Amino acid sequence: MGPRGSILLVDDEEKILKALGRALRDEGHEVVAAASAREAQRLLASRSFDLLVVDNRMPEKTGLELIRELASSAPEADRPQIIMMTAHATVESAIEAMKLGAFDYLQKPFEVEELLVGARRALEHLRLRTQNRYLLSEREEEFDHYGIVGRSRAIQEVIRQLELVAQSRSTVLITGETGTGKELVARAIHDRSAQREMPLIRVNCAAIPESLLESELFGHVKGAFTGATSNKKGRFALADGGTIFLDEIGTMSTTVQAKLLRVLQEREFEPLGAERTEKVDLRVIAASNRDLRRMVGEGRFLEDLFYRLSVIPIPIPPLRERREDIPALTEHFIGKHTQRSGKRIDRVEEAVLEAFREYDWPGNVRELENTIERAVVLSPGPVITRREISLLGVTESVPAGLPSLKLHHNVEWVERQTIERALQRAAGVKKDAADLLGISQRALSYYLAKHRIE
Ligand SMILES: Nc1ncnc2c1ncn2[C@@H]1O[C@H](COP(=O)(O)OP(=O)(O)OP(=O)(O)O)[C@@H](O)[C@H]1O
Ligand SMILES: [Mg+2]
Repeated sequence: MGPRGSILLVDDEEKILKALGRALRDEGHEVVAAASAREAQRLLASRSFDLLVVDNRMPEKTGLELIRELASSAPEADRPQIIMMTAHATVESAIEAMKLGAFDYLQKPFEVEELLVGARRALEHLRLRTQNRYLLSEREEEFDHYGIVGRSRAIQEVIRQLELVAQSRSTVLITGETGTGKELVARAIHDRSAQREMPLIRVNCAAIPESLLESELFGHVKGAFTGATSNKKGRFALADGGTIFLDEIGTMSTTVQAKLLRVLQEREFEPLGAERTEKVDLRVIAASNRDLRRMVGEGRFLEDLFYRLSVIPIPIPPLRERREDIPALTEHFIGKHTQRSGKRIDRVEEAVLEAFREYDWPGNVRELENTIERAVVLSPGPVITRREISLLGVTESVPAGLPSLKLHHNVEWVERQTIERALQRAAGVKKDAADLLGISQRALSYYLAKHRIE
């Protein structure tokens, strides 16, 4: 059965009102009947309807006139869907009704079933429209806070600092454990700055092999080294006028650090193998989940570079030190992932929040997001229960002092393996694989897209 809705049915013939009204009610709709356009107008002014089913040919005022007035008085988003009923002789008015935004028209005489199908489609259309609108307003809301959710003093302080620094072009160093939102903050600074129309170029220093990092950053000329078959622009040149985001800067070798220091001091650099220097005008944002100060003490990070970078430091505390952010973040991620899955999930049960409050979140906000994303897929809705939540509990089993494990990587890996194995066992038949996994086909498609599995 399709969606149900409230329907205003307008026709001057009582027999038709009765017959159509009964059929629509049998489908589960709420039906209000009106015998004239005027009566319909009064009703429309007093309450809202999902769908207006209106006859065209009526004494006094026609259905088309009613639609015309409705179209000029209310914005489309606030109008009900419209289906017009019309006799053969007046197809022109049906076309005009469609131009005014009516969803469909039925040519009399028609089978009742045709109206039921039309109503179903109109209501489905309305549901999608509302959903889209919700999506849009959500995005706007996110934009207002730069997508950074949290009411703890720590997060409010981070937001205050980023707003201040966005107005300058100072170098910023964002520090925090993995998954605390460093990249999110870096993007927010750029989006808030006067250079927001200019490029924001991210360089993940940890992901680029040491031997290539220099040429990635500064570019090279043809023949600078084996394999340099043409000139290549570096990321610094690409980011000129905007922002360069040097992520995981703690993994950079001291050689590259020295070159970077020079760019920060002189605002110029030489591409590998080039004879001339290039000037750049950009803001540098660096991020690290390592303790750079300690690395300075150990001789692994240049002291001068450290001070250059930390002109404006923005530390983001781990989630376990701002647990008051957990409820708001939970709600935020439920909204985000529910929209993707198309399910209806409203909240988590109290026991889940309790578990969340006690857990240590070694993977911080990212781990919370992944946990909720998984639960949304597993949960039939509308309330996520403790059963659908698996916390890895690694905090207890990893002795203190070990370097932090990138939890999310493990989780993603296990997830991918599981999906691939199910597909294999189902010989590539998606429906069977979904059954094996105990998830819907829709959820499976989502995972396939997420992991780029063909
Ligand atoms: N305060 C927050 N509000 C909403 N979403 C957040 C918040 N903090 C982090 N996130 C989300 O958590 C995820 C991880 O954040 P992000 O990638 O910015 O972390 P990171 O500190 O750069 O981690 P890593 O050190 O592992 O690179 C992202 O999806 C981000 O949108
Ligand atoms: Mg990051």
